[in-house]
Amino acid sequence: MSTEKRSNFGSKIGAILAVAGSAVGLGNIWRFPYETGNNGGAAFILIYLFCVFILGIPILIAEFTIGRSSRTNTAGAYRVLAPGTQWKWLGRMGVLAGFLILSYYSVVAGWTLQYAVNAATNSFANNTPEGFKQMFATFSSNPWQPVIWLIIFLLATHFVIVRGVENGIEKASKVMMPALFIIILLLVGCSVSLPGAIGGIEFLLKPDFSKVTGSVLLSAMGQAFFSLSIGMGCMCTYASYFSKETNLTRTAFNVAIIDVIVAVLAGFIIFPAAFSVGIQPDAGPSLIFITLPNVFQQAFSGIPVLGYLFSVMFYVLLAVAALTSTISLHEVVTAYLHEEFKLTRKRAATLVTGSCIVLGTFCSLSLGVTKGFAVFGLGLFDLFDYVTAKIMLPLGGLFIAIFAGWYLDKKRVKDEITNQGTLQSTLFNVIIFILKYIAPICIAFIFINELGILK
Ligand code: PFF
Repeated sequence: MSTEKRSNFGSKIGAILAVAGSAVGLGNIWRFPYETGNNGGAAFILIYLFCVFILGIPILIAEFTIGRSSRTNTAGAYRVLAPGTQWKWLGRMGVLAGFLILSYYSVVAGWTLQYAVNAATNSFANNTPEGFKQMFATFSSNPWQPVIWLIIFLLATHFVIVRGVENGIEKASKVMMPALFIIILLLVGCSVSLPGAIGGIEFLLKPDFSKVTGSVLLSAMGQAFFSLSIGMGCMCTYASYFSKETNLTRTAFNVAIIDVIVAVLAGFIIFPAAFSVGIQPDAGPSLIFITLPNVFQQAFSGIPVLGYLFSVMFYVLLAVAALTSTISLHEVVTAYLHEEFKLTRKRAATLVTGSCIVLGTFCSLSLGVTKGFAVFGLGLFDLFDYVTAKIMLPLGGLFIAIFAGWYLDKKRVKDEITNQGTLQSTLFNVIIFILKYIAPICIAFIFINELGILK
């Protein structure tokens, strides 16, 4: 183990905000709307909610338990809790997933910076829906521009990471999250009042279960896990910095509720606007980048200065939300290298940042210059998204549930969840039952169903 003192989150609210900061990010505002659009709308959302509340929260609590009781990085946690076993591979898979997600996630985070600049330089004024589509296509396929933003974004993440948990992560989370929430609420108001917005509202509220296929189930589960940052030990790593007073169950519920609210509100910004200006809901990863500029432009046509201010604020805050998530992804890999290989934190972080810049560059180029190059029919960017969100995180969640439900000593889990018996444990049996039976069965069913074996 490292001899440097492990830092802690300085305050209770700091811990909750940092965890919420990891959960709330591009997954809610960029990925949730486009996955909802690709998977038919309301029915997808209902399955996603099931996955968050029934599977996600118990797995989140399991990760908290593993992290806080071992007080080390995610791979080290299994070494401490299950010495001499193969469980360490679960931690290692998580580190790899974090590394892959960080690489392609930073590409999109970089886009938000470019859009903040577009907003600030008033490039949305007097443009048309077709023009916004063109603007995104030209930018995202440009060989160098998105790469520069990607590098800037990763360097910003790096800067916070080397300053340490308490000074960096906690402070960054505390300030901006509430501001983002307020601006999201304002934008929902703007979007639902656009002409023709009702089509989008119906898309979000009227479920059509005939559209639910195996791949819709897998997408909803993947989205729930991605959005809660679970299945790869990120929450486990953060929980290793919790104080012994942190109430794990309450923190998990609070974070899940905040996360769902932000995602659903993002849906209520995107779809009413998309239906209003005639953008297809299944436009994919470009969806929010081609839809939102229309909201800023059209909803504020009477008072353009307000549209200008809101657009700049929105993209800056979105970039901050992305930053609090990239920090958590980076931390998983950095803490692993630092504690398992005894590298200094700075050297570990530099290694992670450098390799993510290289991999992220390939992801970015796969949307433009190297578009024709595909593995399993997917470009690198889409491949990384698919492999992590739809395979690695659910698989990680499955094994985390089994680890906490079956392998760990029940008394140890109970002590951790009840803070050594000082908290009530009304939900303890339910949580264990879900971890033991419901979560493994549901996740395995969704996988098998998608593989087509049941047919
Ligand atoms: N939950 C983040 C989001 O919704 O943007 C993304 C993420 C962060 C996924 C950390 C996984 C993770 F470990």
